[in-house]
Amino acid sequence: MDRSKSIELLNTAIGDELQAIHQYLYWHFHLEDQGLIPLAMLFRKTAIEEMHHLSKLSERVLFLKGDIDMNPSGPVERITDPEAIVRRAAEMESKSADDYNNFAKQCSEHADSASKQLFEGLVADEERHFDGFDTRLDHIKAFGPQYLALESFQNSQNGAAPAAE
Ligand SMILES: [Fe+2]
Ligand SMILES: [Fe+2]
Repeated sequence: MDRSKSIELLNTAIGDELQAIHQYLYWHFHLEDQGLIPLAMLFRKTAIEEMHHLSKLSERVLFLKGDIDMNPSGPVERITDPEAIVRRAAEMESKSADDYNNFAKQCSEHADSASKQLFEGLVADEERHFDGFDTRLDHIKAFGPQYLALESFQNSQNGAAPAAE
């Protein structure tokens, strides 16, 4: 097993997860401010799931006797248009799934089965996140940009309290 290669890949993923957490919280607050509560809550829930990913990745790095690089891979992008947010989020999730598939393959090549399995588990989550954003893009395409406002209106009509998580 090539520990240093695994640690490098795991730390790359840690940077991406941190960037996603910051980005999704930025969008959560902006969407909440715009009154788009269901979408705002989806970003909050997804950010929390990315924190669980960060935790698994960090535990694995420390298990391999490396150190965790807690620096986000990039700055928060100041995108505030709801449709542009959903489009960018779908791109981010699609890239994460591709990257983690690739990292799982690399870990397999240097016989680090546990890191490979960790990345494979993350791929399944990122694909599910992608699907949540992609479905909303389909709805925007089908019903127009006002879909997000209608979703929010319907949510408040139903008296649905935003999910805590
Ligand atoms: Fe993630
Ligand atoms: Fe994700």
